[in-house]
Amino acid sequence: MNKQQMKRLATPMAIIVVLVFIYLIPTAFSQDDMTQVPVTAFTVLERPQVAFNHDMHNEKAEIDDCVVCHHGRTDDGAMDMENSSEGESCDSCHLVKPENGETPLMRAYHRQCIACHVKSLKGPVTCGECHTK
Ligand code: HEC
Ligand code: HEC
Ligand code: HEC
Ligand code: HEC
Repeated sequence: MNKQQMKRLATPMAIIVVLVFIYLIPTAFSQDDMTQVPVTAFTVLERPQVAFNHDMHNEKAEIDDCVVCHHGRTDDGAMDMENSSEGESCDSCHLVKPENGETPLMRAYHRQCIACHVKSLKGPVTCGECHTK
């Protein structure tokens, strides 16, 4: 390959590299391959990270409506069960230490996960069943 040919290839190569990044990065963070609940918002972990295979869990539990877990926020700061917030992480609304009496992140998870397991009489409800080593 001479210099002229190399130059002609450079631009298509750059485009391919950019496309690969555009397609690969979002899939790496999508729910399809989520196997654990993200914990980045917690600075230190007191318990082992919780296993949660997003798609498999929801299929087995037969939950079709995303808003069941991904509720939104209304203009006056209440829970919005009409508009899904899928794609937004829980910690974008639920801080680890909120200052205004809103539901903190840990409690948000515990309430949502445990309440449904208790109600449906299925799924883990004790600490060690979710925070597995
Ligand atoms: C239905 C599943 C479930 C059960 C049962 C459960 N947790 Fe959690 N817990 C979670 C999830 C999900 C998170 C957030 C993600 C993570 O920490 O892995 C969390 C987070 C936490 C955190 C904050 C993160 C950390 O490790 O410091 C603590 C502390 C915690 N749980 C303690 C407990 C204790 C104590 C019990 C029993 C009384 C318990 N959990 C029961 C699901 C559960
Ligand atoms: C049983 C509860 C539950 C259901 C039902 C559910 N999800 Fe999730 N989903 C989660 C949790 C928990 C996370 C991790 C949230 C976080 O990062 O804080 C998540 C993460 C995601 C993410 C990754 C972005 C993010 O928040 O980090 C996407 C995208 C997503 N869900 C889409 C969906 C779609 C689409 C549906 C409906 C087909 C759905 N989810 C149903 C619990 C659920
Ligand atoms: C777009 C913002 C937003 C996102 C994203 C969000 N929430 Fe909420 N959530 C709220 C608001 C607003 C409330 C009502 C005020 C409060 O309790 O903090 C609420 C309340 C809650 C409550 C308390 C319900 C009750 O009956 O008291 C739980 C549990 C909860 N959220 C869990 C979650 C979980 C788990 C996720 C991620 C899968 C999540 N939320 C994502 C805005 C959000
Ligand atoms: C709306 C109801 C509902 C919510 C919310 C929910 N679950 Fe479940 N979960 C179920 C049901 C139903 C099962 C039992 C599925 C079966 O095996 O038949 C289950 C089973 C599980 C299991 C057993 C293994 C598996 O993947 O099937 C784990 C672990 C689990 N849930 C974790 C969680 C965590 C962590 C959360 C919160 C982020 C959560 N669940 C929120 C309904 C729910």
